[in-house]
Amino acid sequence: MIAPSILSADFARLGEEAEAVDNADWLHVDVMDAHFVPNLTLGLPVVKSLHKATSLPLDCHLMIDDPDRWAPGYAEAGAANVTFHVEAARDPVQTARAIRAAGALAGLSIKPGTPLEPYLDVLKEFDTLLVMTVEPGFGGQAFMAEVLPKVRRARQEVNAGHLRLFIEVDGGIADSTIEAAAEAGADVFVAGSAVYDAGDPGKAVEALRAKARAAMNWQQ
Ligand code: DX5
Ligand code: ZN
Repeated sequence: MIAPSILSADFARLGEEAEAVDNADWLHVDVMDAHFVPNLTLGLPVVKSLHKATSLPLDCHLMIDDPDRWAPGYAEAGAANVTFHVEAARDPVQTARAIRAAGALAGLSIKPGTPLEPYLDVLKEFDTLLVMTVEPGFGGQAFMAEVLPKVRRARQEVNAGHLRLFIEVDGGIADSTIEAAAEAGADVFVAGSAVYDAGDPGKAVEALRAKARAAMNWQQ
């Protein structure tokens, strides 16, 4: 699946910017609070409006402190998938259950420096694992190939039947990097600048999907 990130879109025209990628699978919405990350973006009111403006499933990526308190509200607002950071969470299992009870998929995200291994058990309660391929906070950063072993490890766990997860990568995904991520085992690809800085965002989505599909050689 391809999930364009509206972080790179024109925030004054979010409805139209969503429409420009109506061939995408999810619309990735980066919520930043200027505490967990040094940047500030948008929150619940914008997510509620976006949900009305587009039929694309909203993939909310919460880069915020205290997700235990705030994450279920994004599910109630209509998000299809709500991902929060393990580094910020007090009780990831309880929060995942609250997200699911509110009708969304639950996602857990790990920053580049956060290991995967300690969370393999907790991930049984989740639908999505988001492996950050840049430091969270800003679009347009360079892809960190050194985190791909975590994607590979997660893919092994899923293929062995120990976990059932979407494996999502976020940060620096472009024509030149998506194949490496797909080959490592990712199946959801967030792309901000590679989609919205392209002349035709819809075409960019198609091109990324074709490249990823061709490189997904891990399928059972
Ligand atoms: C960064 C965000 C990303 C960002 C990716 O913290 O989580 O979703 O939009 O942007 P690109 O694809 O430009 O790296
Ligand atoms: Zn993101």
